[in-house]
Order: sequence, then C-alpha cells, then structure tokens
Amino acid sequence: MNLVVVGAQWGDEGKGKMVDYFSEDADLVVRFSGGANAGHTIKVEDKTFAVHLIPAGIISPGKTVVLGNGMVIDPASMFEELAKIASQGIDWEGRVVVSDRAHLVLPGYKSEDRTIDEHRARPIGTTGRGIGVAYGKKASRDGVRVADLWDPVVWNALSKSDRDWLEPFKERLASMKVNLADFMMANQDKRILLEGAQGALLDLDHGTYPYVSSGISTSAGAAIGASIGPRRIDKCLGVLKAYQTRVGNGPFPTEMVDGNDVVLADKLRELGHEYGVTTGRPRRIGFLDLVALKYSGWVNSLDGFILSHLNLYDGFESLSVCTAYELDGEEIDYFPSNIADLERVKPVLQTLPGWEGKVADARTWEDMPGGAQKVVEFIEEFTGVPVHGYSVGPLRKETFMKEEPWTVS
Ligand code: IMO
Ligand code: MG
Repeated sequence: MNLVVVGAQWGDEGKGKMVDYFSEDADLVVRFSGGANAGHTIKVEDKTFAVHLIPAGIISPGKTVVLGNGMVIDPASMFEELAKIASQGIDWEGRVVVSDRAHLVLPGYKSEDRTIDEHRARPIGTTGRGIGVAYGKKASRDGVRVADLWDPVVWNALSKSDRDWLEPFKERLASMKVNLADFMMANQDKRILLEGAQGALLDLDHGTYPYVSSGISTSAGAAIGASIGPRRIDKCLGVLKAYQTRVGNGPFPTEMVDGNDVVLADKLRELGHEYGVTTGRPRRIGFLDLVALKYSGWVNSLDGFILSHLNLYDGFESLSVCTAYELDGEEIDYFPSNIADLERVKPVLQTLPGWEGKVADARTWEDMPGGAQKVVEFIEEFTGVPVHGYSVGPLRKETFMKEEPWTVS
C-alpha cells in the first residue's frame, strides 16, 4: 500500500515530523516534489535534524529514501545535507536513490532566481534556491535531468564550467540513480510513503498563483513525481496547523495584522518557533482558514487530516477560525482564484471556546480536553474531512493517531 502525506496550507505544517513518524512503518519513502526550498525539522530525543532536499524518511534507521522525478535537485545541496546528517550519526550510504528523470538545479539558477524575483514588480519572495528556474527550464524543455549527465549530446552542450561543477557529482550519482518507474513497479507490494513538500496553497495550479512555488505540491503530484500513476494512490493525508502561516509574499486572508491580533501573532510565532528552516525568515501568522482548508481537502482528495500545533492554544480562553470571506460587502464561501479578490477579502471569524487541561499532554483522542475535541469536530464538520491524527509537540512521542494510517477504508 502507499500513503501520501501533503501540506494542507502554505507549507511548514509539520510534514517533516509526520513523515518521520510514518516512516517507521514504511519500507520506502519517496519525496515527489520541490527541492531545497523545503525545510523539514525532525526532533528525535535530544537531536534536531533539518532536511531540505533529502526525504525526511532518512532519519528513520534502515529506510530507503527516493528523490522522485517531480523534484528539482541541486546536487551540491544534496551532498552537503547528506554530509551534515552523517555528522549527526545518520548512516545514509546505500539508502538514497535518485530518479534519473529528476531535473537538476545548476549553479547559475540560484542567482537567476534571485535576480528575477528582485526585478518583479511584485516579488514573490522566493527562497532563492533556483526552484522556479529549474521548473521553468523543465517546462520549456531546456532542463537538464540526472539521466542527461550520461547523454553525450546534452553533456557536451553544457558550458565547461557547468560540466566541471557537475563532474564530481556525476560519479557519486551514478550509483544512486534509478529508472523510477521500474523501481516502483518492482517495489509495488511494499509499504510506500509518498512525501510531499510545500503545501496545497503553494501548488503551481491550485495555490495562490503567482505567489506559489513551481512544483505540484498537491497529492496528484505524488502520482507523477513518484512514477506510479494516479490509480495506484491508496490514501492521502494532509497535515495542517491549528493556525495558518506563510513565508514570502502573497495574499493571506486571515493574517493577523490588526491591533491585538498582532500581539497574538507574535505570541504564536514565539511559541511555535515560526521562523523559516530554509531562510530564517519570520513566518506570517493568521487564524485557521477553514474556507481554504475545505478547498485544500478537495484538491488533495484527502482521506484525513493530521492536526498539529493545537497544543499552542492550551491555556487560551478562546480561539478564532475563519468560516467565510466577505468580498465587497458580500459573504462568499469559496476560495477565490483571483488574487485581487483574495487580497481584498475580509475573514468572517467565528470564536470557539478554549479548554481546561492540555492538548500537549494528550496521547490519545480520549485524553484530549473536551473543548479541544469540540474544535476538532468543528473543523471536521466544516471541511468534511476527518482528523486522523495529532501532533501535539515536536517530538516523535508527541504524536498519536486516531485512525490507523496504513489501512485503506
Ligand atoms: P516546506 O516543505 C513554506 C514559498 C517561499 C515563496 C514561494 C516560492 O518546508 O513546507 P520558491 O523558492 O519555492 O520559488 O518560493 O514558496 N515556499 C515555502 N513556504 N514552506 C515551504 O516548504 C516552502 N517552499 C517554498 O517562501 O513564498
Ligand atoms: Mg518547512
């Protein structure tokens, strides 16, 4: 069976931690989208690991991880990351496989990415990792794939400096590359975790275009980016945070920007360590947006959510969630495609009561404070997607499932 894990919001929902948790029972972990723009933090006992390109499944001992064809790979970043986790005691040799159809991020792409963004009338605020340039070249058929390193026509057409830069990586990639379609066919009976990056609202098609990343970060991307085809996807889970964050520019209907809301945003930012893992930028904070979440549940065909960070509201008297938007004086219940509309909408907030007791201490659904259970039920009812599991703190042990992840209903 396979299980897709995606971000249900604008990224940074806690996917890395959940992928690490699910990896324990998986045979294979395949990352299907994005590149070094992602930033996943995984805490295991007293150690903290940060991965960007490498699937978060690498931290789980003995698991094979795959960088899928939906990714854009900067080989320098990749080997740097592997060296870093090796220095933290992770034995990765022989466990990392790379699709030979994945595209490469070449040295000039990063500066090109930054220059393009600086010259945009309204910059996106990219991570500067060359992601948009690599996917752009992929779409215009000017990209360089892993397999192309052994194609004399493509290789010889590269500049000498690109060839010199690639040469040492070529040797190392030779033993890691696979034809992923064949590899997945051979492994189809295994338990496969399909690891997403970014989030639905950063997806090239479904996100807040043009303020998005350039990969397919919704669950459909797992079929393409991991070479399995759409009918073989068994289950899709979306990770969401009990509030909303966004790094970089773009519309954010529920952003906490007024008076007391700013104070709340600052509090949540400190409690949740809401600073980018890749760029260190402070994340923008907002109220949980159920309009966007319902949309995300649909475009990802989610079987369930994993709810994280609800524990941050422990001790709060109440919390607010957005249940509709007001657009030019009219209430709307959908997530607009038009950016000007999304920038103009005002959130219609509903205040839900807080709770006594601590979500942070819960290890089962039954342990959850009654008020927190009511909030969960409100989210489920509104979105039509049940919450299957919870992350109530950064550690592996601060995770529990209400529904068994590795079964198909
Ligand atoms: P994870 O996997 C949050 C954002 C950037 C920028 C936009 C485009 O950690 O959830 P890009 O460099 O991809 O062209 O930037 O997308 N972005 C992310 N925001 N989490 C991420 O990944 C992100 N990856 C890209 O901040 O607004
Ligand atoms: Mg992140």
